[in-house]
Amino acid sequence: MMDGRTPRAVRLEDYRPALFLIDRVDLYVALYETHAEIQSRLEMRRNPDAPPSERLVLDGEGLEPVRFALDGRPLQAGDWRIESGDLIIDRVPEAFTLETVCRIRPQENTALEGLYRSGDMFCTQCEAEGFRRITWYLDRPDVLARFRVTVEAEQARYPILLSNGNRVEQGIRPGGRHYAVWEDPYPKPCYLFALVAGDLVCRRDRFVTRSGRAVDLEIYVEAHNAERTGFALESLKHAMRWDEERFGLEYDLDTYMIVAVDAFNMGAMENKGLNLFNSHYVLADAQTATDGDYANIESVVGHEYFHNWTGNRVTLRDWFQLSLKEGLTVFRDQEFTADRTSASVKRIQDVRLLRAQQFAEDAGPMAHPVRPRSYLEINNFYTLTVYEKGAELVRMVQTLVGREGFRKGLRLYIKRHDGKAATVEDFIAAMADANGIDLGPFMRWYDQAGTPEVRVEDDWDPASGTYRLHLSQRCPPTPGQPHKDPLVIPVVVGLLGPDGAELPMQGPAVRAAGATEATLVLDRETQTFVFEGLAQRPIPSLLRRFSAPVKLEYDYDEAALAHLLAHDTDGFNRWDAGQRLALRALLEGVRAVQQGGRPQVADALVQALGHVLAEAAADPAWTAEALQLPSELYLSEWVHPVDPAAIHTAREAVLGALARAHREALVGLYESMATPGPYRYEPSLAGRRRLRAVVLAWLVRAEPEYVARAEALYHGTDNMTDRMAALGAVQAVPGAARERLFAAFEARFRDQPLVLDKWFGLHATIPEPGTAERVRRLMDHPAFDLRNPNRVRALLGGYAHHNPVGFHREDGAGYRLVADAILQLDALNPQMAARLARAFLRWREYREPLRGHMRDSLERLAGAQLSKDTYEIVSRSLQAQG
Ligand code: PHE
Ligand code: ZN
Repeated sequence: MMDGRTPRAVRLEDYRPALFLIDRVDLYVALYETHAEIQSRLEMRRNPDAPPSERLVLDGEGLEPVRFALDGRPLQAGDWRIESGDLIIDRVPEAFTLETVCRIRPQENTALEGLYRSGDMFCTQCEAEGFRRITWYLDRPDVLARFRVTVEAEQARYPILLSNGNRVEQGIRPGGRHYAVWEDPYPKPCYLFALVAGDLVCRRDRFVTRSGRAVDLEIYVEAHNAERTGFALESLKHAMRWDEERFGLEYDLDTYMIVAVDAFNMGAMENKGLNLFNSHYVLADAQTATDGDYANIESVVGHEYFHNWTGNRVTLRDWFQLSLKEGLTVFRDQEFTADRTSASVKRIQDVRLLRAQQFAEDAGPMAHPVRPRSYLEINNFYTLTVYEKGAELVRMVQTLVGREGFRKGLRLYIKRHDGKAATVEDFIAAMADANGIDLGPFMRWYDQAGTPEVRVEDDWDPASGTYRLHLSQRCPPTPGQPHKDPLVIPVVVGLLGPDGAELPMQGPAVRAAGATEATLVLDRETQTFVFEGLAQRPIPSLLRRFSAPVKLEYDYDEAALAHLLAHDTDGFNRWDAGQRLALRALLEGVRAVQQGGRPQVADALVQALGHVLAEAAADPAWTAEALQLPSELYLSEWVHPVDPAAIHTAREAVLGALARAHREALVGLYESMATPGPYRYEPSLAGRRRLRAVVLAWLVRAEPEYVARAEALYHGTDNMTDRMAALGAVQAVPGAARERLFAAFEARFRDQPLVLDKWFGLHATIPEPGTAERVRRLMDHPAFDLRNPNRVRALLGGYAHHNPVGFHREDGAGYRLVADAILQLDALNPQMAARLARAFLRWREYREPLRGHMRDSLERLAGAQLSKDTYEIVSRSLQAQG
């Protein structure tokens, strides 16, 4: 319940152009210790593309009105009114200037939307609808205006005053106050507005664009973090260069600023010229950041930078188009990382996330198309589907039109829509026009939810040397979409000979005879593709590089999988063959455990693993991926009803058996993968450390002595990556060593909350039922704070989303713990509470008594006063048909 009212759904089909436009915005923001005063001056006029209207409605939320003036004349009571926060003026002329003054209380803003405080600084977060918490406005992305912003605050406490664009003036005010005036030459929607005031230090650098313009780069952090921003700055320069080289896109302002914020709901935000980052994605040094953190920083810095063209210069018509900027920009950051590190490892990691989490979203009650059609709260649609599946759709377009065709399409899209608000159709039309093809049928991907299944069968005619692939597709029903139409699915294939060599292809299925790879485009329910002139029956390598976000079914036998694992030239498919082998073994193991037996590990898997280990040195980063068995989360997609305890027991047993079978090789790798010299982040070294970490986690399960080796590694190393490898290895081994290491970590990093998040996360994901009590205890830890999203994500998010065994405890105590936390959190930060509530979404799929306990917790939540955000998740969970 939401104080008795059911919130109203916003629908794509109801989109109408704004009745008014805003040409210029002049803001004066005065910051005080108790409140802020916002004066706004809007130059407005009727939208010529909308029906004429005299009534002006401006979005607002929780603003205290002070005074209003229209064309310089003060408005009297009766001229205006406020309804559910919105400002309504019944009669306005065709063109006019509206001045408003309001007060807000950033100090009390725990939702972290709008203007709020993080530690000692003021900052803003306006995407998606935060600007209406700062002042009355047309808070929608298709209203673009030029902003001029004055920030005024006490000089001693807030020496740094920032907003978007260029600083054009600064000065002193009486009473120890000062101000700065900022002007952004590029019209923008208000969700890209940002402001910062604080006592920050700046690290500067300079980038010369390829057309020779110098850009000042500035990263602002609190003084004690000054030494930890070098890597983010390097990443920014790499991203700027990369976008010039790959897409010919240059930066467009004289300054690019990044500010690190401790209390931030998301990863980072692409505000024009002034990105705000969760400190987690800025700060790094060897002592506090892992290789994984470094990689994330590079990719998030790239992501936000790339938004400058895909999101900012070309923005969104409405929030249903969110994937137009996010899917496209994730694709761009994925390509950036692939170029900077290893393309196949990056692909493996992205697909692992997609399969374990986006497929789950697509199969549950919150399933929605990449372009949703309705929502209660837009914040709930910053999802893996919009971001990650959205990126897969963009990747499929690139597969269909080719890399060069994609570049041309992107440039045409930008040329057509620069400075404007666009739709997904506009993007697809530009791609189609630039390449002279019809992408109309491809649009279905944006409108249909659910993960399609592609079934492959084959036959072989030795007499004529003809090999046929029969492909068929289906997509399961999702909420509100019982029936699905066929999609355009690019299936990249290769054919391997019995000796492992790649076979040149010819026949109707192949565009260029002699090629060793073909893109089969499946666009009907069933289709057959014919290859000719083959001397022997090939082994098909299907869906190379995961060319479409589908579940591919083909009855590979174990020998074929082992063959692909050994010989495929596609690193992704080589990995996937290993995963398929392991998945079979694990599912058999789960069945054995459920029947009271012990999992046996098939020889085929043991041998295949032997080959992988023997060649580990050739590509340590890839090998580290290949050694990771499918996760418990992913396995739960395959076990009906879901049985987290049996999955965990089976996976541990298989892991242990494999580790014992290959003890010697593993020990050898642990020694040979040591990285000499002082720590530095570099992808190839990171690959070696990653492999060593995985090997160590295997060894502690086979060899008690390796628990002591883990302790030695922890104490002997100079870097956080190895420390986390040691902690991660002992995490699943109950005993004194684990507790000793955890305590040592806490003692060392007690004063660094961002580092302590790793420690909260390690506790939260201990795969034991007793973890519930630990988590409850840790919520009282002095460093824990429900108001800080990073703490919440580490401890509660880690527990509810990444600890199946702990969370799905037989007696339901895990659920009660998380439901209690959701209720507390919902009163502070609805966005974070709603994310935590997603842990209950798929309750119907669990075995009893888990299912019943989950329903009880959901019903308890449903009976409380909830935010719109959490209400949407809880009500969808309970409504869904099961
Ligand atoms: N637009 C941000 C990004 O993906 C994410 C974000 C959304 C941040 C909403 C804050 C609020 O880059
Ligand atoms: Zn983004």
